[in-house]
Amino acid sequence: MKIALLGYGTIGSGVAEVLSVNRESIARKAGEEIEIKYVLDLRDFPGDPIQPKIVHQFDVIAEDPEIEAVVEAMGGVEPAYSFAKASLLAGKSFATSNKALVAKCGAELMELARERGLNFLFEASVGGGIPIIRPLNTSLSADVVEEITGILNGTTNYMLSKMSDFGSDFDEVLKEAQQKGYAEADPTADVEGDDAARKIAILTSIVCGEQVNFEEVHKEGITKISAVDIKYAKAIHRVIKLLAQSRRCQDGYCAMVAPVMLPKSHPLYNVDDVFNAVFVHGNVLGDGMFYGSGAGKLPTASAVAADIVEIVKNKGRDVMSGWSSKVHTLSDYRKVERRFFLRTTDSREAVEEAFGNVEYICLPDVPGEMGVLTGVMTEAVYEEKAAALSNILQMIRVE
Ligand code: HSE
Repeated sequence: MKIALLGYGTIGSGVAEVLSVNRESIARKAGEEIEIKYVLDLRDFPGDPIQPKIVHQFDVIAEDPEIEAVVEAMGGVEPAYSFAKASLLAGKSFATSNKALVAKCGAELMELARERGLNFLFEASVGGGIPIIRPLNTSLSADVVEEITGILNGTTNYMLSKMSDFGSDFDEVLKEAQQKGYAEADPTADVEGDDAARKIAILTSIVCGEQVNFEEVHKEGITKISAVDIKYAKAIHRVIKLLAQSRRCQDGYCAMVAPVMLPKSHPLYNVDDVFNAVFVHGNVLGDGMFYGSGAGKLPTASAVAADIVEIVKNKGRDVMSGWSSKVHTLSDYRKVERRFFLRTTDSREAVEEAFGNVEYICLPDVPGEMGVLTGVMTEAVYEEKAAALSNILQMIRVE
């Protein structure tokens, strides 16, 4: 099968590398050789063996009947969306690592593919190299998924791990994550939680069969997490992780992204560095965990290349159940019950008047404030009670 690659950046060059390094085993599994005929990029790569394949016009690809699949690794909604649509309309299957494209236009593009017996696949868009889209789409299709809780952003997990292990500074660890090729072009999407929100929106869309708009996922990033918060977490034997979570409630799924303190007993406690993990609870499966390399060139390219193999093996037959473009109205995340940690300079009397029985955490090297661990309550109730205090310095959810 002859394919075209859109974008020769970190992921695109990784896909070319994977298809070359594992050429024989990939051909055996796919049933035929996979050859990159074109690479679309604005740049030239003099001296790189890819140079003879570089083209600067998408039309060259769309108009070539030999190209059966187009693989996109550019990122961003445009021009990726236009290229995806044009490829499918020209009878070419499409594989992408682009979560912005999938979160926004996935339903429409899957529908276009389905109508034409093509495939629109996006395993690499969530969890990097970890298989999670295909398992939710096929292996767990007999379950009603009741909970997905994931560490879905490698950059922030890397940063929180380093901040926790070495007391490192936020900017310094962000720079390291960028150098390692984990971060988005604009790392605001990582540290503010947008990247994880897009990913949990995609996973929730798969399990509920409807379009979950990522803008409606409640989202808090890690920019306000400080070294002092990490000290408190350690004092109560917990780690702070940026969790992306969706839960099935009576009136649909609720979803949120926020830093959460996890105890040692939690399955995601030991997920460190750039690793991602997704905990899934199905009504018949019970608990399941998917763990592995969540970002970076080759892990992501591994998932993209596997999608290409899937496309070769399923010509004329689309494999994604996907989701419809009907918008899923998310349930209010404030209905979820949990404990809350807060830092305050209010008096114990004021805290107990608001929250009743609580646990206190006082750190000798953090004078003038105290940590408070509340009992279990819904987020809505927490907000009501917290409004009675005048000096809350920080609030972090606790599992
Ligand atoms: N910036 C993303 C992350 C890349 O850090 O997880 C993989 O989607």
